[in-house]
Formats: sequence, C-alpha cells, structure tokens
Amino acid sequence: MKKIAVLGAGAMGHGIAYVSALAGYDVWVRDIDQKFLDKALENIKKMLEKAVAKGKMKEEKAKEVLDRLHFTLDMKEAIEGAELVIEAVPEIMDLKKKVFEEVQKYASPECYFATNTSGLSITEIANITDRPEKFMGLHFFNPVPIMQLVEVIKGEKTADSTIEYGVNFVKSIGKTPVVVKKDVEGFIVNRCLVPYLALAIDDVGRGVATKEEIDATMKYKYAFPMGPIELGDFVGLDILYYGGEQWSLVPNADILKEKIEKKELGMKTGRGFYDWS
Ligand code: CAA
Repeated sequence: MKKIAVLGAGAMGHGIAYVSALAGYDVWVRDIDQKFLDKALENIKKMLEKAVAKGKMKEEKAKEVLDRLHFTLDMKEAIEGAELVIEAVPEIMDLKKKVFEEVQKYASPECYFATNTSGLSITEIANITDRPEKFMGLHFFNPVPIMQLVEVIKGEKTADSTIEYGVNFVKSIGKTPVVVKKDVEGFIVNRCLVPYLALAIDDVGRGVATKEEIDATMKYKYAFPMGPIELGDFVGLDILYYGGEQWSLVPNADILKEKIEKKELGMKTGRGFYDWS
C-alpha cells in the first residue's frame, strides 16, 4: 500500500485524508493537538456511516477505509516512508515554511511535497525546502468529498515529472486535475472567486442590495449552488479575509474585518452574514 501523509486535520485535511483512504492509500494524518485529530476521525466516521446507511458503501469497505487511516501527533511517524506529503495547515506563509522545514528532516529523497494553499506562492514555500523541483500545489475545494476539481500548480522550479505525478495522484483518487502553469496569486479558481465574493460583500456594506437579493440574483443568473455571501460564510470569512489580505485580491475588507472581530466567521461559528445556528 502506498503511504501518504496529510498535515493538518481541519476541514480540508480530513477531507483529503478521507478521499485518499477511500481510493486505497495508507493515510497518516498529523496535527498538533489531539482534539483536532479526534474531530477529524469523528467527521470521517460520520461520512462512512452515512454512506453505509444509504447503501452507497458496504460495511466491510467502510471498515477497510478506517483501517487505512492513522492519526498521529508525531511528525516523524507521519512522514517516514511516505511517497507524498500534502500540507493543509492554516494559510500563514511562515507556518507553512516551518512545517516543511520539519517535514524534510524525515522525508525520503523520493518523496513529493504538496501544499493545499488556496493561493499563497508555491515557489516561495518550495524554495525553503531541499527539493523545489519535487514541490507542487495540490489545491482541493471544500467540501473535498463532493468537489471534483483539484488544481495542480507548478512553482517556478517544479519539474514536469512532479506535475505528472500530481495529475496521476489526483486521477487515482477519482478527482479531476487542472494544471495551473503559472504560480499566480489565487491560481485559476480563487483568482476569480475571491474578488467576486469580496465585491458582493462590499455591495452588502454599501447597501447596493440585501445579502439575500445578491445571493438569489447570482444563483438565478448563473445556476450557482450558492450565492456569493452564502459561499463566503461556507468557506469561512477568516479564510477569505486572511487569504485576500495576503494576495491583494480583496478590494474592501472593512466589513470582513468587523466580522472577524466579532468572531462571526461563517457556518463554522454558527453566524457569519447569515445565522446558521
Ligand atoms: N462534507 C461531505 N459531504 C457533504 C458536505 C460536507 N461538508 N456537504 C454536503 N455534502 C453532501 C451531502 O451529504 C449530500 O450527499 P448525498 O447526495 O450522498 O446525500 C450532497 O453533498 C448534497 O448535499 P445537500 O443535499 O445537503 O446540499 P446541496 O445539494 O445544497 O449541496 C454543497 C451542498 C455540495 C455544499 C453545494 O451547496 C455546493 O456545491 N456549494 C458550493 C461549494 C463550493 O463552491 N465550494 C468551493 C469553495 S472555494 C474553496 O473551497 C477553495 C478555497 O480555497 C477557499
């Protein structure tokens, strides 16, 4: 069985771990606090139980998937013997660099490194490692089990063979890769999505229309499953704010800043622009 390591057990990390274990990989999830690992396991168990209850998965298979998932606080245990490391820690450049400095102490020379950053520079993170040619972006979307697309991003020094590996990995877990050939802020999706969400939020602040009207308009016009304000709450207003702040893609972040100060971060806190409690 091929071993992969997923660093960070949050919404993205546990989703990536889940779809990889479903596809047959031996997955090691590492986080810094047991409570994050426990929550990740609980979420994965819920997804498996639901799939079994709906007759979409046999109980035997659900058990096999759980057996292929390992949760640890120990970086060495997670990394040793892995052919791929996918980092999914918070969107803070210095934190991501610190994580890879530790990863490379235990990774084999053959191991590929990937970051699930939503838009930070792949090249900048890659350059602090001993293998920028084996470093790529693998950007998944939330909720990972449902969203089909994965961006495979080329940093300045990423080798073509690394991109080929990334594309094949994405296909092997049943998802659809798109290769992003230039390491630009936000890549393909968030380069378009973040300014769209931020402009819609800015419109709410300016009183252009209500959030309900904006959401309904965009859903009606483009058949999007969620309107931009709803999607902002879904993605997390903190992620949007901090991501946007670092990429210079957000035109007016004042209203977001207020939400962060009030800890109204979207669905995950029960309130963002909407009440989700
Ligand atoms: N985790 C796992 N499965 C989930 C889920 C979650 N968080 N949310 C919903 N699902 C599953 C449901 O269980 C259901 O599965 P079944 O068909 O087996 O029952 C299926 O998805 C449909 O769910 P619902 O019927 O409850 O709701 P829905 O039809 O309204 O779909 C949605 C929910 C899939 C989230 C849909 O609203 C949607 O696609 N929204 C847009 C999501 C999106 O654009 N994501 C990208 C965000 S940007 C990002 O992630 C990148 C970044 O860097 C910021």
